Amino acid sequence: MQIRVLVNGAYGHMGQEAVKAINAAKDLTLVGQAGRGDNLSALIQTSQAEVVVDLTTADSAYANAKAIIDANVHPVIGTTGFLPGQIEQLQALSAAKHLGGVIAPNFSVGAILLMKLAVKAAAYFDEVEIIEAHHPAKLDAPSGTARKTAELIAKARIRQPASRQEKELLPGARGAKHEGIPIHAVRLSGILAEQEVMFGGQGESLSIKHKTLTRETFMPGILLACRKVVELDKLLYGLENLI
Ligand SMILES: NC(=O)c1ccc[n+]([C@@H]2O[C@H](COP(=O)([O-])OP(=O)(O)OC[C@H]3O[C@@H](n4cnc5c(N)ncnc54)[C@H](OP(=O)(O)O)[C@@H]3O)[C@@H](O)[C@H]2O)c1
Repeated sequence: MQIRVLVNGAYGHMGQEAVKAINAAKDLTLVGQAGRGDNLSALIQTSQAEVVVDLTTADSAYANAKAIIDANVHPVIGTTGFLPGQIEQLQALSAAKHLGGVIAPNFSVGAILLMKLAVKAAAYFDEVEIIEAHHPAKLDAPSGTARKTAELIAKARIRQPASRQEKELLPGARGAKHEGIPIHAVRLSGILAEQEVMFGGQGESLSIKHKTLTRETFMPGILLACRKVVELDKLLYGLENLI
């Protein structure tokens, strides 16, 4: 059975890769490509899409996801930069319709494994900091992956780190705290996407690092999500829920 997929943000870096990958997949049919200024709801209707892959920008991510859910079509959202509470609101909208979908800040299998390993380590190390590095065209900071990793670690850790007397002599020197975990965001040419999670303990430290070298890395995860969402009845947050 063919699954009808529309790509929103189709003319961007990720969108172009997704279009290529969907065209190459035997069980998926690309039924539409949308970009900035297009009427997404109208295109969903005319294309009769069953799944919409959204790879746009943080400022339009919520409105796009809502338009997809309102149209009773399965969202596969790769766009990052949702505001606090927005993902929960979208999950509630989907749940009310029993509509399956996924919001995944990272579609690479290695990045998912990094998160799983970090969750394991979080039970043994109280102290942790996250360093993420991306290409300079990335608009949002910190990355959705770093935020998600911090959320998972915060849930998994057994003890809070001991409080310290610290003074930032330059604002931001100790990173931005999410769920109490410092996140340091680097933006540099020559890098696509990297993340390191550093744990500290008595006399030892543990670093888990993942690097993404090309955008093709994200495509197997996007294709997997397109295939799985049509069987789901709720909106999942994170690719790890599908693999
Ligand atoms: N989940 C993952 O694994 C993963 C991996 C990499 C990147 N990302 C995320 O994916 C998103 C896209 O990344 P990218 O590198 O492809 O960025 P990009 O090259 O800037 O592409 C974004 C595209 O979306 C278009 N766009 C902006 N607002 C839109 C709207 N309201 N409706 C339709 N199209 C719109 C942009 O058009 P204009 O050029 O006219 O602005 C552009 O073509 C970002 O949020 C990024 O963080 C996710």
